[in-house]
Amino acid sequence: MNQRPVKSILRVLDGEPVWPLPVWIMRQAGRYLPEYRETRKQAGSFLDLCYAPRLAEEVTLQPIRRFGFDAAIMFSDILVIPHALGQDVRFVENEGPKLDPVTSETDLARLSDEMPIERLAPVFETLDRLRSSLPPETTLLGFCGAPWTVASYMIAGKGTPDQAPARLTAYRDPAFMQKLIDKLVVASTAYLIRQIDAGAEAIQIFESFGSALPPALFDRLSLEPIRRMVDGLKAARPHARVIVFVRGGGANLHRFAAAGIGDGLALDWTLDPARVLPTLPQGIATQGNLDPLALVAGGSSLDDGIDHILASVRGRPHIFNLGHGILPETPTEHVSQLLARVRQTGHRHGV
Ligand code: CP3
Repeated sequence: MNQRPVKSILRVLDGEPVWPLPVWIMRQAGRYLPEYRETRKQAGSFLDLCYAPRLAEEVTLQPIRRFGFDAAIMFSDILVIPHALGQDVRFVENEGPKLDPVTSETDLARLSDEMPIERLAPVFETLDRLRSSLPPETTLLGFCGAPWTVASYMIAGKGTPDQAPARLTAYRDPAFMQKLIDKLVVASTAYLIRQIDAGAEAIQIFESFGSALPPALFDRLSLEPIRRMVDGLKAARPHARVIVFVRGGGANLHRFAAAGIGDGLALDWTLDPARVLPTLPQGIATQGNLDPLALVAGGSSLDDGIDHILASVRGRPHIFNLGHGILPETPTEHVSQLLARVRQTGHRHGV
């Protein structure tokens, strides 16, 4: 018999309702924190910070020290995979990521054939360090981008509205698109297995651009590749737990749930948990889904947004989070307000 995990987030991912809800925030280590901005200055470039285990450990711990979140997400980025595969990746101040576009099978042939996993050794060292520096009740999360989200950056070379260049490529050159997606499935699965071996207890897969895909492309470019990654990870490491975040997943959430892809499904802020949760299988964990702008705004709209989620998820296995990443302009006091409300509400009403 497996022992029941003591960490609240792992219990929720195993299907157990926990109250008060455990809570963490997507992008919780980041620019809204003055201490992050300070460490970031010391590191030089953003990628230097990702590949400096001591500093990456430090910025992962900063939101845990300040707020006591129930999970720590290792500090890194989804674009370290194309970087490890040999694509040039830079982060330009105030502009975001810039990559040399990969748009043809010739470009693809220039990338590594096999995933040179050791290039990501600093990420595994960050996890290894965190395993001993985190408080015992805090769950250590690893992550990677879903193949479609990562491919959209690899093809366009930057963030693009509605991922138009990648979508056009998917229609014009489906063979190339499939090869790129397949390469990312293999590379990302190997990467996730190593994250688990280095100490990650659960993984979140970020399909941040799921909303751009029409139904005709969704299965091939999003659902099936994510299914293959989760199956591959679980075949190799059966104890690994997986949260799937599909921004714009909408109706597709049910297809992820029905296919049993992942232990938890993260909802973006456009979904009403009061309506969606009763239509999902009881045992599946959910996560989310406060509008990040409600957290920027604070005040009673923040309280109302939190209360609506708390009332909707009662009795279900749910992890409190935002519906997407925290915005850099978010006041830190609003994060404290959020934590107090999620946790005190639990004290007032009991289970
Ligand atoms: O959640 C965490 O705190 C862990 C670290 C983390 C980062 N990026 C750090 C980061 C995680 C999980 C990510 C995921 C990520 N990266 C996604 C998927 C999640 C999402 O929010 O949709 C995407 C699409 C990326 C790609 C990426 N990285 C972009 C578009 C940018 C620039 C955008 C911006 O806000 O400037 C980054 C840079 C980045 N990744 C920063 C951080 C803290 C800011 C860089 C800086 O310090 O200057």
